[in-house]
Amino acid sequence: MRYHLAPLFCRPWTLNGITPRLIESHYENNYGGALHRLNAITEALESLDSGTTPVDVICRLKRDESAALNCTLLHELYFASLGGDGRVVPDMMADAITRDFGSVDRWRKEFIALANGLAGGVGWVLLTYVPRDRRLINQYASDDSQSIAGGIPILALDMYEHAYHVDFGANAAPYIASFMRNIEWNAVQGRYEDAVKVAPPRPLEQKQFGDLPSLTVEQVAAMLAAGTPVQIIDNRPRHYTTRSPDIMAGAVWRDPERIEEWIGELSKTEPVVTYCVYGFHTGCETAVALRNAGFDASYMTGGHYGWKALKGPVKLFE
Ligand SMILES: [Fe+2]
Repeated sequence: MRYHLAPLFCRPWTLNGITPRLIESHYENNYGGALHRLNAITEALESLDSGTTPVDVICRLKRDESAALNCTLLHELYFASLGGDGRVVPDMMADAITRDFGSVDRWRKEFIALANGLAGGVGWVLLTYVPRDRRLINQYASDDSQSIAGGIPILALDMYEHAYHVDFGANAAPYIASFMRNIEWNAVQGRYEDAVKVAPPRPLEQKQFGDLPSLTVEQVAAMLAAGTPVQIIDNRPRHYTTRSPDIMAGAVWRDPERIEEWIGELSKTEPVVTYCVYGFHTGCETAVALRNAGFDASYMTGGHYGWKALKGPVKLFE
């Protein structure tokens, strides 16, 4: 695999307050250097025999590879982020930013604050679209190797000192202001339009009990917080509960293999929520049995560990 150079498209002579000399030095030395490093590392990795090379040598090269790859990609995005009138945010981009940050002004203040936080240090400030959540987020990356998994950065501000010292010395604030003035929003919006077409990770499917009504741990927590009457039954198998010290507060444990012994305690006028260890097996089977007996029963997805992962209150299980 050989990585190829991306040309510089941002028309350095048109930038407001940033000189071509700075952009040329940045492009040639830092972007070019990252690409060169990336190809050298890739070549070294390809020539290694993974069976005989010490593990620490391979790991070090792989760490260096991800830093050099991110450095290359982010520099390409940085240069592609410049060259426009940063004050004019096109409608679609302004709507998306307002949706996710409250207003363009709030977004701008946060973005600049993050950049100021990196002044004198190293790193990147990125506007990133996360397909999983279908939203934009400002990212503070304090080195080249940080990234949001699955995130698609659409705007990048380079806060390494090499990005500004030629024009601004060590004074980052006017550099940040110049960057903001030169953002090419039409290109950012184009990247946003592409990013929103990326499908979020497909949801995990629980096919066996797919049709059975369920509630998430968040929904159950909200019901409890609102004081909604609900009967919560912990249906973890008996052998499992013997090694578990805790149980969801507000739940009672009932043996899923002896439903007939406790079903008479339940009310048909209040909903019943069942759950098990992970929330997709015993709790579901019990919910099916309860529904067949005429109860308004559903199961809690995520189960005992989902509840604990949400930091839901637990009590000692006796
Ligand atoms: Fe840079």
